[in-house]
Amino acid sequence: MSIYLDNAATTFPKPEEVYRAADRTLRAVGVAPGRGGHSRSVEAARIVFQAREALAELLGIGESSRIVFTHSATEGLNLAVKGLVRPGDHLVTTSMEHNSLARPLHHAAATGVEVTWVQSDPAGYVTAAQIMSALRPETKLVAMTHCSNVTGAVNPVEEIGPLLRERGVRFLVDGAQSTGSYPIDVDAMQIDLFAAPGHKGLYGPPGTGFLYIAPGIELEPLLHGGTGSGSSELTQPVSLPERYESGTVNTPALAGLLAGVEFVAARGVASIHAFEMALVDRMIKGLAAIPGVTVYTPDDGRPRCAVVSFTITGMDPSHIGFVLDHRYGIAVRVGLHCAPLAHKSIGTFPLGTVRVSPGLFNTEQDIDRFVAAVAELAGTAR
Ligand SMILES: Cc1ncc(COP(=O)(O)O)c(C=O)c1O
Repeated sequence: MSIYLDNAATTFPKPEEVYRAADRTLRAVGVAPGRGGHSRSVEAARIVFQAREALAELLGIGESSRIVFTHSATEGLNLAVKGLVRPGDHLVTTSMEHNSLARPLHHAAATGVEVTWVQSDPAGYVTAAQIMSALRPETKLVAMTHCSNVTGAVNPVEEIGPLLRERGVRFLVDGAQSTGSYPIDVDAMQIDLFAAPGHKGLYGPPGTGFLYIAPGIELEPLLHGGTGSGSSELTQPVSLPERYESGTVNTPALAGLLAGVEFVAARGVASIHAFEMALVDRMIKGLAAIPGVTVYTPDDGRPRCAVVSFTITGMDPSHIGFVLDHRYGIAVRVGLHCAPLAHKSIGTFPLGTVRVSPGLFNTEQDIDRFVAAVAELAGTAR
């Protein structure tokens, strides 16, 4: 039987309810929400509204209409950066960013924005003090990941948010690896812009994501177009969420996302985190005991999410991934994980690491089989 340990890329499998909700919505509702006013369209709009409400409830967001659906975390991060930042602005970010944020920031830098890249420690952490000392009078935005998709390090966004709010600097958090599997309260953490995918820790279908935009923030939309509202005007509506949701949204996928969020809420994020950390502890203990294996994920009590990176001395990570897949039926992710700067920060560039990310559907037996496979493989390298 194959073992899936690449939940940081996307969670698999999804809960049964997610498959059922997407299927039912495509078959039985099947139409564009908020268009036409007929009862099917009203039912579709109700599903999309419920998905927004469920997300707001799970993430401590006061106004669900300020959650804008996107097709990925990447789209949300692009909307936040491109919608907010203008030439002459100064931004602060970190060396641990995924390309979903690093590339829009790098692109902004090419258009006259100044970007300061705060260097993480070798485990992938940055401190609130580091971020604060990178600020300048003209700093408009701090944009950073909550949890590293390479080492699993969780950054102190709850400390940074209030400090930035005091200074009047906007705070964009990439919640791709933490949403659904690490406790988050967006309002209490004083996060202004929060982007996340629906298809990772929320167990929704691929092609789902969102951006939360705090009151008082006006972003230039990425897209202009039909919203099903204000149709007499050629200008984009100003009300949310329509301002940022041009085009027909993917209602079947959002119905799946709603089912995923309900599944996560019923299980409880803290309990999901505890379950995953038990698997991560077991995995790190197993890997650390294998001669030739180096684990890059912190194991010193600092906060983490369910991502473990390792290498075997003398073996290319892509070879390890290939053998784990073909000989042992174990799916992991190898290489740079779309985060080259992070690998430079932890000293694993250019080959990268093997990344293993358990999810809610993994078992202790999965972890033991994986560790035994790595032990065998490492034995062949000696
Ligand atoms: C930290 C981080 N940010 C952003 C993303 C992008 O997410 P999406 O594929 O939904 O755009 C990922 C996905 O791997 C990620 O790990």
